[in-house]
Amino acid sequence: MDRIHITGGTQLNGVIPISGAKNAALPLMIASLMTGETLELVNVPRLADITSLLRILGNHGVDQMVVGKRPGQTTEAGQTIRLTASNIIDTTAPYELVSTMRAGFWVIAPLLARFGEAKVSLPGGCAIGTRPVDLLIKALEALGAQVEIDAGYVIAKTKNGLRGAEIDFPKVTVGGTHVALMAASLAYGTTVIDNAAREPEVVDLAECLIKMGARIEGAGTSRIVVEGVARLGGARHEVLPDRIETGTYAMAVAMTGGDIVLENTRADLLSSALDLLGTTGAEVSSVANGIRVRRNGGGIHPADVTTDPFPGFPTDLQAQFMALMTLAKGQSTIRETIFENRFMHVQELARLGAKIRLDGDLAIIEGVERLKGAPVMATDLRASVSLVIAGLAAEGETQINRVYHLDRGFEALEAKLGRCGAEIRRVRS
Ligand code: EPU
Repeated sequence: MDRIHITGGTQLNGVIPISGAKNAALPLMIASLMTGETLELVNVPRLADITSLLRILGNHGVDQMVVGKRPGQTTEAGQTIRLTASNIIDTTAPYELVSTMRAGFWVIAPLLARFGEAKVSLPGGCAIGTRPVDLLIKALEALGAQVEIDAGYVIAKTKNGLRGAEIDFPKVTVGGTHVALMAASLAYGTTVIDNAAREPEVVDLAECLIKMGARIEGAGTSRIVVEGVARLGGARHEVLPDRIETGTYAMAVAMTGGDIVLENTRADLLSSALDLLGTTGAEVSSVANGIRVRRNGGGIHPADVTTDPFPGFPTDLQAQFMALMTLAKGQSTIRETIFENRFMHVQELARLGAKIRLDGDLAIIEGVERLKGAPVMATDLRASVSLVIAGLAAEGETQINRVYHLDRGFEALEAKLGRCGAEIRRVRS
């Protein structure tokens, strides 16, 4: 298994291009199942999760065309993918494919809405909590689907199509909102989704569906109204920038010191995280087509933060922020409210010398003077990258094992950091 070796202690200086968002690209790709015409997606990141989803879509019979590199394009320039679901041969998404990634489960919505049936394995994904799909199933039932769970599969059917309904999520769920949006777009009549997720990725999906002919209002607010249409058509859509990748590199430079421009991204996608970084002593400013983050001298100030649904501080940046706080001058706290088991990076950060105590959903971090490199183990996607950040700031060598987690969500990580002065390399084995 590949490992990443980092020799820490160098500042980051330069430009990092930000990729298209994994968590936007995945539901957008799934939306291709909603039409027999071609959906062209631009700025799709090259990531293991994208490849896994292509496999799932391929199994349903979706034709795929990955456009080749064009002159002058760097390896990291996002790819263009054309997906055409004109000949669906199978409405089952098998365990072998869906167990590797949670988002794969969301194919249930377009398959059900367009073909009246879907059989989808219960999902996998990062082990950061129980991560049930009860709210997704309830949303489909509200729209008139008959759903049963048998032998690890969710089997959903509808006799005469889905019907518009009121869906009031008891808890904000990104996946639930994606599923409700897709299913309602092809249902008869009006659907009102209350307590909808307001994440930018939901807005991105809604915008793409609108281009395909869907009638959706209110995406980005907690009440979305969908007027169902009989059919959707093809479209071309550019995937929005990855706000989690943006925040990750912003935290890396806040920790190592230096001066970085994050290119092809938008500050409004992560205002809460950037505001918080500002309070820790980093200087954050908007520049043309991106964000500049620097910290020159001056210590890292401690901070207290709670993860929340958008526009709150994202759970997907919690581990990275914890890495930063391990070197703060004083005590910080982080409360994790979204996932109940998302502190697995704590014991790995401790190997580097971090002082962190857990009390239920609260992590109490006592800043230390310095971290020291050590072998560590990546446990999930965002936890892995928190170890990379900590390794960049630690003295000596850090070896990160099980890097396949990183490959699920960070495109060309070593190249992007390496060009900014980081001593980071992958050891293949
Ligand atoms: N929940 C339920 N029942 C459900 C669905 C969700 O109880 O039926 C709970 C979850 O267990 C969790 C909370 O609701 O406690 C929120 O979960 P949500 O449905 O919003 O998460 P998700 O859609 O499964 C997406 C991202 C995650 C990100 C969360 C929260 C994708 C592919 N995944 O997951 O990203 O952490 O929203 O913002 O979009 C990652 O990229 O590393 C990642 C885990």
